[in-house]
Amino acid sequence: MTSVTVRVPGKVNLQISVGPLRADGYHELVNVFHAVSLYDEVSAAPSDRVRVRVSGEGADQVPLDEDNLAGRAARLLADRTGHPARVALEIRKAIPVAGGMAGGSADAAAALVACDALWGTDLSAGELHALAAELGSDVPFALMGGTAVGRGRGEDLVPVTARGTFHWVFALAPGGLSTAAVYAECDLLRRHEAVPEPAASDALMAALAAGDAKALGAALANDLQPASLALRPQLAKVLRAGEDFGALGGIVSGSGPTCAFLAESGRHAEELALALSDAGVCRAAVRATGPVPGAVIV
Ligand code: C5P
Repeated sequence: MTSVTVRVPGKVNLQISVGPLRADGYHELVNVFHAVSLYDEVSAAPSDRVRVRVSGEGADQVPLDEDNLAGRAARLLADRTGHPARVALEIRKAIPVAGGMAGGSADAAAALVACDALWGTDLSAGELHALAAELGSDVPFALMGGTAVGRGRGEDLVPVTARGTFHWVFALAPGGLSTAAVYAECDLLRRHEAVPEPAASDALMAALAAGDAKALGAALANDLQPASLALRPQLAKVLRAGEDFGALGGIVSGSGPTCAFLAESGRHAEELALALSDAGVCRAAVRATGPVPGAVIV
């Protein structure tokens, strides 16, 4: 085999309920993941060692050294299977870098699937999931796609029934935010509060099951949002603009700084994206639909 290409989606979190800080430094979560049609592509080809090249959206901000999560995914798979760690990974990015849409996690999931096929290591879905969870809290969902509830630190996944297709607009911000910094800020903001155990929203689950975009817009909730806004106050203006332009709901995506807006239809999403771009509140406004499948070989 000469080369394998995997397409992998970004995600928005429809709900993040952040529970108490655990002894291992992670927070107990209820995290409703929703895969959207903004895709990265990762190609794996034979090489003399692990090499990583990146092109596309925000490529200059992606580390190419030992920190690159796709490269780490390839090394982890090699280590666990005994296959030599030799692959050239080429990543073509459309998911914003450090944008709260799990782009780095998506690339890691894609690299696992691509190397597993290229090397013929042929792991089961369960084995791939376990390696993905070692690489990061959001990596298993990128393998799975669709809509799912993540518990634990987000890696313990159960699919959620969602009817129909939802139309989204993503307002991309200049620069990224560190996920760890946003969680630390969240702890700081809540230091005088008793933090309850995280819980899934019944209203959100009902909206998904009914395919009711209006109800879903009203049920979007992100406990990390106050922390993202504290670190990036300009985001308040972005969220307000989305609301003014008639979004059914608006939310910081994951730890941010991307903001996600739910539209009534494809046409409404088009109008909303134009209005957000014209208002000059974001670097770019891009449309996507969800849910979509996880990492697939193309
Ligand atoms: O798992 P991942 O490496 O993507 O997490 C990045 C950072 O986000 C962690 O180091 C931690 O600070 C924070 N995090 C957390 N609780 C979670 C998931 C992530 O505190 N459930």
